[in-house]
Amino acid sequence: MKLIWLTDTHLNFLHKEDRMSFYQKIKETSGNKVVITGDIADAPSISSLLTEMAKAINIPIYFVLGNHDYYHGSVDLVRQEMIALTEQEPLLHWLPIAGVQHLGHETILLGQDTWADGRYGDYANSLVSLNDSRMIADLFQSKILGKYALLDKMQELADKDANHLKVNLINAIKNQTLKKIIIALHVPPFPEASLYEGKMSNDDFLPFFTSKATGDVLLQISKENRDIEFLVLCGHTHSKAYWAPRNNLIVKVGAADYGKPEIQETISI
Ligand SMILES: [Fe+2]
Repeated sequence: MKLIWLTDTHLNFLHKEDRMSFYQKIKETSGNKVVITGDIADAPSISSLLTEMAKAINIPIYFVLGNHDYYHGSVDLVRQEMIALTEQEPLLHWLPIAGVQHLGHETILLGQDTWADGRYGDYANSLVSLNDSRMIADLFQSKILGKYALLDKMQELADKDANHLKVNLINAIKNQTLKKIIIALHVPPFPEASLYEGKMSNDDFLPFFTSKATGDVLLQISKENRDIEFLVLCGHTHSKAYWAPRNNLIVKVGAADYGKPEIQETISI
């Protein structure tokens, strides 16, 4: 079984012929399934572009959403759309709703969107203002109320997803014998995995480029289950990274360039 990993494809920035040649490249890898770790497109285009990709490559696509997938939309509305899409399109599976996927012998895949939570770096003194707080209705409404209302909203979203991840992991481990769990996320869960030009993001950017809530869940669950290998795939920073905070916990972040989507890796299961 070959799992093709894509991230931060931003398909809405591509002309149709460029999207088609990217899909052709995916087909040529002869993989069996695709996993996408977010920032696939934006809210108005995500359903149609995922449907277009599924039709072109004709293999199952498992995905989580990134912050960009909510741009020009609201969190609830986009999520409702993803639930409907997962029900309607047999090849498309939004992982937070689709749940645990069995990939092979004692290997499963699961995922959550995840959000940056402002807990790493120096949120108090950071002057960074991401488009998220202008382009996503929920974050925009919070930002109007002030810097700390925005932080509260970021943490509410991040903690909810981290908690879902924790519950899903605990249930999956309880219900079966597992050797390996592949976890698809969008935001890197550790500062060491959140790079910019090969170096750790600085204290101004880390609040927006890491999710401590997710990282804490991963550290705890991997510590309690030393016989299981946890492979975490994510994106968001566009900067390739590899970080193994424990023997059985590996985090990989994919590289990305706007307008030039790439296949990150083909993972043999
Ligand atoms: Fe992102």
